[in-house]
Amino acid sequence: MSDILKLLALSGSLRNGSHNTDALLALTRLAPASVQIALGSIADLPLFNPDLEGEPLGAVVRLKSAVAQADGIILASPEYAHGISGPMKNALDWLVSGEEFPNKPTMLINTSPRAHHAQDALKEVLTTMSARIVDAAFVSIPLLGSKLDVDGILSDPYLVKALQDGLRQFCQGISSFRTS
Ligand SMILES: Cc1cc2nc3c(=O)[nH]c(=O)nc-3n(C[C@H](O)[C@H](O)[C@H](O)COP(=O)(O)O)c2cc1C
Repeated sequence: MSDILKLLALSGSLRNGSHNTDALLALTRLAPASVQIALGSIADLPLFNPDLEGEPLGAVVRLKSAVAQADGIILASPEYAHGISGPMKNALDWLVSGEEFPNKPTMLINTSPRAHHAQDALKEVLTTMSARIVDAAFVSIPLLGSKLDVDGILSDPYLVKALQDGLRQFCQGISSFRTS
């Protein structure tokens, strides 16, 4: 097992200038040398169709491979109409039946603290998918309504600390899963 922790970050927003994507990009820059965070893409996934499971669909194969190789998954997703964003739910649906995702350590980032409906629903979905959610790693930061981009996030000590603390807790959670 490598000493470097490999984490896969997925944003549930496809929007240019997405706060969720920016939070994940900021986290990649805050990670210590012992942690590699790759930002995956879910934008090219087809709409989930169980009839197509097992087909060699490039975007699906790439997502499953990235999940399989990751020591942990970091998810940041917006709330739309009190629900999980469609792109995020679609990505998770492609992972439901596979063997890549169950027991995967998972960290959640919420960039809009008022958006608890989607977070609650996301936790329910992930629990159903047998994710190992590291609750202590949960990060809730108020980016909605701010004009902060990645550099703006990285220049705010409160946001930097929240992201660093969450990542540290996540790494500790992954370590404790390995030794338990
Ligand atoms: C169609 C739509 C529906 C939304 N519904 C909600 C909602 O129900 N609750 C909420 O708190 N925010 C809602 N929002 C606000 C988004 O969650 C918010 O803009 C968020 O920052 C988007 O994430 P992003 O910046 O990563 O794209 C909605 C936004 C859109 C475009």
